[in-house]
Amino acid sequence: MSSAKSKPTKKQTSDHSAALSATYKPSAEFSKKARIGSMAAYEKLYKSSIEKPEKFWGSEAKELHWQKPFSKVLEWKCPDAKWFTGGKINVAENCVDRHAKGPRANKAAIIFEGEPGDTRTITYAQLHREVCQFANVLLKRGVKAKDRVLIYMPMIPEAAVAMLACARIGAVHNVVFGGFASEAILDRLEDSGATAIITADGGWRRGKIIPLKPAVDEALKKYSKVKNIFVVNRTGNEVSMKAKRDLWWHEEMASASAKHEPKGFDSEHPLFILYTSGSTGKPKGILHTSGGYLTGTYSTCKYIFDMRDEDVYWCTADVGWITGHSYIVYGPLANGATQVMYEGAPNQPDFGRFWKMIEQHRVSIFYTAPTAIRAFIKAGDEFPEKYDLSSLRLLGSVGEPINPEAWHWYHEKIGGGRCPIVDTWWQTETGAILISPIPGATSCIPGTATRPFFGIDAAILDDAGNECPPNVDGRLVIRKPWPSMTRTIYGDKARFKKTYFSDYPGLYTAGDGARRDKKGNFWIIGRLDDVLNVSGHRLGTAEIESALVAHPAVAEAAVVGRPHDLKGQAVAAFVTLKIGYEASAQLENELRNHVGHVIGAIAKPDDIYFTPGLPKTRSGKIIRRLLKELVTIGTISGNITTLDDITVIDHLKILLKK
Ligand code: PRX
Repeated sequence: MSSAKSKPTKKQTSDHSAALSATYKPSAEFSKKARIGSMAAYEKLYKSSIEKPEKFWGSEAKELHWQKPFSKVLEWKCPDAKWFTGGKINVAENCVDRHAKGPRANKAAIIFEGEPGDTRTITYAQLHREVCQFANVLLKRGVKAKDRVLIYMPMIPEAAVAMLACARIGAVHNVVFGGFASEAILDRLEDSGATAIITADGGWRRGKIIPLKPAVDEALKKYSKVKNIFVVNRTGNEVSMKAKRDLWWHEEMASASAKHEPKGFDSEHPLFILYTSGSTGKPKGILHTSGGYLTGTYSTCKYIFDMRDEDVYWCTADVGWITGHSYIVYGPLANGATQVMYEGAPNQPDFGRFWKMIEQHRVSIFYTAPTAIRAFIKAGDEFPEKYDLSSLRLLGSVGEPINPEAWHWYHEKIGGGRCPIVDTWWQTETGAILISPIPGATSCIPGTATRPFFGIDAAILDDAGNECPPNVDGRLVIRKPWPSMTRTIYGDKARFKKTYFSDYPGLYTAGDGARRDKKGNFWIIGRLDDVLNVSGHRLGTAEIESALVAHPAVAEAAVVGRPHDLKGQAVAAFVTLKIGYEASAQLENELRNHVGHVIGAIAKPDDIYFTPGLPKTRSGKIIRRLLKELVTIGTISGNITTLDDITVIDHLKILLKK
């Protein structure tokens, strides 16, 4: 592996802040081998991809296997996009058969490591076999194209097999993060109308078995449309199995044929629904379709991770999030990559686990989140220093802005100063990365996701819709459609249009604030709506508030985010109690657990403040902005003239000082 360092163009001085804002050019050696090896090459392709996006995307799509070629690249009538119309494609065939039937047949597709240390390597030929078998299991049990299948699994290869088997038969999967609670499962079952569930007895996390099947059973007490539950035996913990409805995965697979001919589906055939938080109401079911989504994830993997047959790629996300869909399952497998999949926690048995795995599996491309990096920094340099990380050639970051301190640590301690870092900006809705360095070309600057990907027309607008001058904050929009964009919010087209396409006619609004510097680099500031980013996970303040008010003691609740060293943002909840209830440490704990029970542990508030009142306008609307200022800077600097009762603020100030 290369030992050439990527060079800071500003002279490294003892001046810490100068070091933090330095620009890092990829090494000549890295650039020489990369698909896009210079800024001039990037600019050239970017320019032509924006002038003729259909040409660029059409040629990317043609690298996939189409059972029937598409006749038109794009039909766009805002907000409805149809990509690659006339084309028939099978997503699973592209991710599996294409490789299993060629020279990659015996290449490792997934190198799995369980938290207890068990390992399994699955070649493309084996993956093909398992996906075909499970597709046959689903068919035998009556699952058809367009049926919705809920997947609630630990990070084990069967999760990928389940997703690919659904894709293969045209069923629409809805993966629910294994950390979510039964009520979250129930909400998603009801919204999607799922008729089958794929789950496991449990998974390993921090040395313990986390049961999964009981949460499914609990949800099904209130939902009756599920005909079958397929249960993977992962941990061996006891689970209750309802006769006929509940089926063991291994028993079903034992008798299933490994022969299955993949049928081509329309390019716009729905592939999956993934729920994500919005600023109001329940989570939104983001719908992605087949040909466009696969083109976007395939192409971004190819250029942004510059994936090669000899690479060992590892994305540490969970399949329950969009990163796991796009950059564990669909993108890397469409590229025929070898990847590592890990079940458990980064600190099990200690904070050296990831680095040990990189050494053992000779990982060359590593993709993780800033929140994890900050936790590693806190744990201490002695962990990565114990291991040989020289196999790494490229690092990636996703989920939130990466703070320069974390960037530098990642660059030096993990990347040995030689690996470019691709800071990738995107969203559940965008399906694939939209803004990121191209590693052989772009000079990285800590804290910026740099420039848009090919075919992506990103801009920053002010409230009036004018483009902001350099270094002025505004709203991030995408002006042209792209293939992996979400097609709708499942069952709610009106909400889809209103959320994403109503701020500026014809343009996609991301919901993020951003600015562009003079060189055209995008600096993402964060969400403009009531969405929190806790450890890279999206949570709606409205969801947490509604969980809190569902507790019998709570009259009213307001939730805001505050800065947090490790998580990026922490959840602060202001709660007023009903008459007859008293604030206590015990109640505080109970409320925390209640939120954990309703949504999942990640949504548990870090701080709970009991207050007799909340700051409201005269018309009764809670002014969250004031609460946010209080928890962020400890005081109120903005306008309070709309406030109904000014004494509430004095009370809150005292409360926060305690
Ligand atoms: O605010 C942005 C932030 O995460 C949001 C999207 O969250 P989600 O749909 O859960 O997808 C996360 C994984 C793609 C965005 O609106 N975000 C994501 N990546 C970055 C980021 N903010 C800054 N820099 C990033 N690289």
